[in-house]
Amino acid sequence: MTNSLHGRTILLIISGGIAAYKSLDLIRRLREVGARVRCVLTQAGAEFVTPLSVAALSEEPVFTDLFALSDGQAMAHIRLSRESDLVLVAPATANLIGKMAHGLADDLASAVLLANDKPLMIAPAMNGAMWSHPAVQANVATLRQRGVAVIGPGKGLMACGEEGEGRMVEVAAIVEAVTAHFAVSGPLAGKRVLVTSGPTYEPLDPVRFLGNRSSGKQGHAIAAALALSGAETILVTGPVALPDVSGVRTIHVESAREMLAACEAALPCDIAVCAAAVADWRAADTASGKLKKGTGAPRLDLVENPDILATLAQSCPRRPRLVIGFAAETESVHDNAKSKLQRKGCDWLVANQVGTDKVFGKDDNQVTLLRRNAQDEVTADPWPSQSKTDVARRLTEEVVAFFNHSP
Ligand code: PMT
Repeated sequence: MTNSLHGRTILLIISGGIAAYKSLDLIRRLREVGARVRCVLTQAGAEFVTPLSVAALSEEPVFTDLFALSDGQAMAHIRLSRESDLVLVAPATANLIGKMAHGLADDLASAVLLANDKPLMIAPAMNGAMWSHPAVQANVATLRQRGVAVIGPGKGLMACGEEGEGRMVEVAAIVEAVTAHFAVSGPLAGKRVLVTSGPTYEPLDPVRFLGNRSSGKQGHAIAAALALSGAETILVTGPVALPDVSGVRTIHVESAREMLAACEAALPCDIAVCAAAVADWRAADTASGKLKKGTGAPRLDLVENPDILATLAQSCPRRPRLVIGFAAETESVHDNAKSKLQRKGCDWLVANQVGTDKVFGKDDNQVTLLRRNAQDEVTADPWPSQSKTDVARRLTEEVVAFFNHSP
């Protein structure tokens, strides 16, 4: 089973038609391919499926009431679409389609749809005469014109006993349409990328750790840019305060050894970008209870952590085609970065000069891209100071050019 919707959040709006029973299966199928599914159930929808079954299958609270101020539902009509990657209405009744076409918002579902700023798909379901009615057809045409994707409806025997066009298409067809929507075609489509980001925390005792100031902004921006270029992207991140990147499979770890294990499990891949600030050392022993004051400062014996970048760069025969490291240096940036590039065996290295008030946690970065060729010669390309998002975009363009030249 592919995880093609991993990292995607689908907001499913279930309106009131007999086909609503299929939405329960739809929730299950979307989740099977990795999506998080949050649901809005209209009052009429709740006549066909219960909030309890929707909540049980989605493992999320179900949203029903425009005016609820409890259970985290306040302002849900704005929040719900903002927190989703796609809004899907299935089944979409003639009534809800009409409200969408005319901008009405008298319940939570229609208010969510009016406030929606995300791609929208609808799977109409109604009696054939209703579907072919000029009013419904005009409403659907209006929605299509606004860029709404209409899935179906199908033809066949309907719940009312009549035959015709108006049946909600099968669940598999809806899942296929949603998957196709996210199947990014881009210059890196078909490539699998591993990105590391953030700091690692090395425990000293149950409450203390050795860590560093990495926020994950640079690594996460790189994962986002690579995913937008069509690469299947796996992000292994240490503890950060950032949200997961949409469309990126994110694995959360704490320590360097956990990060290494997650990276090795992600192989094989075509590209590895090690932007994480991995702790070089960890405590030789982790105290099982909290270290106590009063008997003098504890002695800390440190041992070296495994080097993830070097391990990936030397992981023959599973070595990624292109291994990119980072170097965080406080002085002699070029010389230190050059020797790191050669010592660790990666192909490229992105060098940045760090300090207590530089790069770590900031939005901008000034980097130099060092490349090592087959003869072990190193070239350096300094880039201007720019946002971490722009660094990520430019690095992605370099990766695309690399694969264009040596596919
Ligand atoms: O997260 P931000 O706040 O946005 O900050 C971005 C950043 C400064 C963390 C980022 O731009 C950066 O420089 N990341 C690498 C930080 C680092 O650990 O550099 P280093 O010079 O110590 O390590 C060199 C390379 O070896 C890095 O690719 C690092 O991921 C890797 N390494 C280091 C030690 C280790 N045990 N295993 C490793 O894989």
